Amino acid sequence: MENRVKQIEKQALAALGNAENSEQVKALSVKYIGRKGLVTLFLRNISKLPAEQRPEAGKQANIIKKRLETAFQKAIDQFALNQQDNADDFIDVSLPGRPAPMGSLHPITKINRRICDIFSRMGFDIVEGPEVETDYYNFEALNIPKNHPARDMQDTFYVSDNIVLRTHTSPMQVRIMEQYQPPIRIVAPGKVYRCDSDLTHTPMFNQVEGLLVDEHISFGDLKGILEVFVHQIFDEHISLRFRPSFFPFTEPSAEVDILCVMCRGKGCKVCSQTGWLEVLGCGMVHPAVFENAGYDTSKYSGFAFGMGVERIAMLKYGINDIRLYFESDLRFLRQF
Ligand code: PHE
Repeated sequence: MENRVKQIEKQALAALGNAENSEQVKALSVKYIGRKGLVTLFLRNISKLPAEQRPEAGKQANIIKKRLETAFQKAIDQFALNQQDNADDFIDVSLPGRPAPMGSLHPITKINRRICDIFSRMGFDIVEGPEVETDYYNFEALNIPKNHPARDMQDTFYVSDNIVLRTHTSPMQVRIMEQYQPPIRIVAPGKVYRCDSDLTHTPMFNQVEGLLVDEHISFGDLKGILEVFVHQIFDEHISLRFRPSFFPFTEPSAEVDILCVMCRGKGCKVCSQTGWLEVLGCGMVHPAVFENAGYDTSKYSGFAFGMGVERIAMLKYGINDIRLYFESDLRFLRQF
C-alpha cells in the first residue's frame, strides 16, 4: 500500500517535468492533490487498510502530499518569473539610437574669445588676475583716493576693510607693470563685481582691460588700435567717435561711441535718440599710476582701455536685457 502512494508521487513528478506552462501545472495539482485528487483519495481510503498499516501509510501519504504541493507551487512561480523576464529583457537592436544634444559655447564666452583674438593678433598678450583684490590695486594704485565716489559702499562689494571684489579689471594694469618692464602690450579679461542690478547692469559682469606702454606712445596710437578693434568686432564700416571723459587713472580720458547699430545714427530707443552708443572707456596712463608702478614717467608713456563684454554682446546681438545672459534659459542660449 505504501508503494501505491509512492507510485502516485513518481507519476505526478514525471508529469510535472513535462508541463509547459502554469495552466498545465495547475491541472496536475487538481489531479493529484485537489479535493478529489489521487493522493487525497488515497488518504481518505486509509481506513480500509489493515489496522497495523494505517499509521505508517497515513504518515507517508501526508509527507508526499506536502512535497507535491511545494513542487507544484515552485513550478508555477518559475513559469511566472520566466514570463516577466521575457517581457523586460527584450532588446530591439534594430531601433535607431537616441541622439545626444550638442552643447555650445555661451554667447559671452564667444564674444570674450573674439575680443581676445583680435588683440592677440595685434601682438597683445592675454593675462589674468584675482577677482578678490586688495584696496590698493583696485583703488589706491590707480589714483583713486580714499574719498573718491567710486569707492562708495553702494558700488563696491567689500570683503573686509582692505579687501574688495574687484570693481573693474584695471588693477591688472598695476600688477603687470610691477612685474614687467616696457614694452608692455596686454589684454586682461575677467569677471568684475558691482552692487548694481537692472536692465543693463548685473552684480557680476565681464570686462576686458587693455594696456600698452612703451617710449613715444601717443593718443594717436590708442585711436588707431581701437579703430581696428571696433571695425573687427562690429563691422568694417561702422563710424566711431572719441568723446572727452574722466577716469582718475588716465589723462586725458575718453569714451568711445559707435554709430548706433540699430538706427545707424537716425536716433532710436536703443541709443536714447542720440544716434551713438558708448562701448568703452580709455585714455593715456596717468603719471601717478606709472609712479606707483615704479616706471620712469619721463621715458615712458602708454594707453589703457576697458570694455564691458556683456555690453558689446548686447549691441552685437541686439539684446536689450543683460539678465538674459545669466538665466541659463536654453531657448535663449540656443539662438547663438
Ligand atoms: N576701469 C574703467 C571702468 O571700469 C574703464 C577704463 C579702463 C577706463 C582703462 C580707462 C582706462 O569703467
